[in-house]
Amino acid sequence: MLSKKTIEIVKSTAPVLADKGVEITTYFYKKLFENHPELLNIFNHANQSKGRQQTALANTVYAAATYIDQLEVVLPAVKQIAHKHRSLQVKPEHYPIVGEHLLLAIKEVLGDAATDEILHAWGEAYGVIAQVFIDVEQEMYQQAETSNAGWTDFKEFEVVRKEEESSVITSFYLKPADGSKVSLHKPGQYITIRVSIPGEKYLLNRQYSLSDAPNEDYYRISVKREAEFTPEGKVSNYLHDQVNAGDKLELTVPAGDFILDSGREPVYLISGGVGITPMLSMLKTIAQEAPARPTTFLHASKNGTVHAFYDEVKNTMETLQRGEAIFVYENPTVEDRSRQKFHFDGYVTEEMIRELHAEPESKFYVCGPVPFMRAILNHLENIGVPAEKINYEFFGPAMDLKQK
Ligand code: HEM
Repeated sequence: MLSKKTIEIVKSTAPVLADKGVEITTYFYKKLFENHPELLNIFNHANQSKGRQQTALANTVYAAATYIDQLEVVLPAVKQIAHKHRSLQVKPEHYPIVGEHLLLAIKEVLGDAATDEILHAWGEAYGVIAQVFIDVEQEMYQQAETSNAGWTDFKEFEVVRKEEESSVITSFYLKPADGSKVSLHKPGQYITIRVSIPGEKYLLNRQYSLSDAPNEDYYRISVKREAEFTPEGKVSNYLHDQVNAGDKLELTVPAGDFILDSGREPVYLISGGVGITPMLSMLKTIAQEAPARPTTFLHASKNGTVHAFYDEVKNTMETLQRGEAIFVYENPTVEDRSRQKFHFDGYVTEEMIRELHAEPESKFYVCGPVPFMRAILNHLENIGVPAEKINYEFFGPAMDLKQK
């Protein structure tokens, strides 16, 4: 239990730290990796170099500190992060290391303003926040172990099939190398894969959504080659160029709380670009388990060349009793026009969604790049869809969406 005094100090200094949040966590990561380079096997170096993870951590610590005496408020956010931590194998013993370096950074950046009393209060508060994460994650590790997965660490999978889905997206079908069954994922979940790339000093981890319906035979990930953003594309380019059928990859048990509900209300699956992957898993699950559920699949792509899963979506739609697929192309090619592969050109507009959406009980699932997500969430808000009917998953750290 934190004392009243500690709570007071933490709450009153939280805005100061928030103000200096990026500075503090930038210093924090620098020192953390200097003293514990082995942690570079866990952290995403691309996020680090772009300053993304810094902001995510800063925001979360600030938010948690603001609610230090009622941490249940931040529990949903903690759970979402904990899914990612569990899938990356963050363990209880890592927390004191992070705590020590966070305090070091606060001291460095605040200078004389960081009195012993303030540092002590923050040390205590961090301990409480860390324990919330550790407890939630412990439960998730246990669930992974007792589920039909039965494994909690990285496990070796073999690529049994590699298939080009568009000019930029390629699917990999993965089976456990030991011949065991695949644990069923929930539609919308992702896995972390870990690769050792020749010439890279550290292991690289990335999360990819599972793109097929849950089944005991294989996992399928569908990876976009990130060509424009280096170093972000290290893993995707490696997978596209170097990994083939017969090769092995390590992965952890599916994670994430962006999951299709089991209701029967009309559902809208809205995606942009490679955000189509969890939506496809959801769509195929609806086709298997609830083909009478009214389903609208709205997908935005640049054009038909990069657009993946056109046929798979169309074919799945035909198995639904009330299903509609709508494709929106930003820049359709001449061939797209002649094949009539799309319904609208330009962007997904508020008008488009307003016209589609009739039933107030409808559920919405949204996934795609951050600008797309911002636009769609805005449209949904403007047409009056209640927040509790909207589920979304973004690529990259959570806080990106809220940054302007
Ligand atoms: C991701 C917060 C402790 C390793 C994240 C994210 C947040 C966060 C907000 C972004 C989530 C997302 O991408 O959606 C925190 C807080 C912590 C904590 C508040 C302490 C109370 C730790 C520890 C480790 C760790 C102890 C391991 C040493 C990671 C990694 C990621 C991550 C590897 C993935 C993103 C990346 O690689 O850049 N954490 N974290 N975190 N965290 Fe933590």
